[in-house]
Amino acid sequence: MADIDGIKQEKQKNFFTDVPQAAPGFFLKGSHQYDWGLKNRLSKVFNPKDGRTVMLAFDHGYFQGPTTGLERVDQTILPLEPYADCLMLTRGIQRSVIPASTQKAIALRASGGTSMVSPMEEWEGEIDGKKAKFARPGFEPLSNESTALNIEEAIRLNASILAVQVFIGSAYERQSLKNMTDLVDAASRYGIGVMGVVAVGRAMARNSQYFRLATRIMAELGANVVKCYYTEEGFETITSCCPVPIVIAGGKKLPELDALKMSYNAIQQGASGVDMGRNIFQSDDPISMMKAVRGVVHENLSPEQGYEMYNDLKSKG
Ligand code: 5RP
Repeated sequence: MADIDGIKQEKQKNFFTDVPQAAPGFFLKGSHQYDWGLKNRLSKVFNPKDGRTVMLAFDHGYFQGPTTGLERVDQTILPLEPYADCLMLTRGIQRSVIPASTQKAIALRASGGTSMVSPMEEWEGEIDGKKAKFARPGFEPLSNESTALNIEEAIRLNASILAVQVFIGSAYERQSLKNMTDLVDAASRYGIGVMGVVAVGRAMARNSQYFRLATRIMAELGANVVKCYYTEEGFETITSCCPVPIVIAGGKKLPELDALKMSYNAIQQGASGVDMGRNIFQSDDPISMMKAVRGVVHENLSPEQGYEMYNDLKSKG
């Protein structure tokens, strides 16, 4: 198989990390041949001045319920709304909490159907006459998602882009890719974008080789934007060989300076922005953190300058 051969011959690959991909006639990577409506929607998600975005992710409740920091979205997230370029959320929160007067782009969660307490498939049996516990290999209940809204709903909610989880390497890889391609087919009829979100199963290594594989597969199958994690090693090879924009997920809460360093490094290595949740809304001072992240993404502040800004704003209360 070509991929397996490719993995074996890693050292012979050339990612041209020093040569940006041309995007003639439109500011956003890989998007210059889209139709007007899709370009316009993507111009709401990404700032046309620099091609970057600060997306605020607070859709965690779709499988986690009231995540720490999101117990009351009206209290904790609405104050952050003015500083985001795009809001990543579920339709339930959009309708119940987000004012319809918002001018922000909407990244609407479009997959779901399982929760963090979905049962593992485990059973007891015997080996050599002794009792033993078994779990189905590679079985990951969280990856057993479906599409979670139809395209008319996305239009009613004025979504700019739909977010769909894709579980490459998991038991439900095929199904999650089908969810994505179904959404691409439906959304592209109306000029709405699709963002494939790399969901890393427990069995998968979070390294650049895995993210190159996952992000490239999603782009090849039609994702307009791909979201993945930052890797300390080789991140520029992920952004380089993915033909559409990549935004990074923040992941679990880090000290503020570390989260700013991660954002800075990702941008310098070719990411088109961040789609960050816990590192903002679980910060000691979410508004100051949001402004500091914006500084790093849109104003090219160094992480240290961003951190100084964070501390300065925080101290002024
Ligand atoms: C759920 C998501 C989340 O929106 C996002 O990844 C969470 O953001 P963060 O990791 O920064 O809290 O895609 O899987």
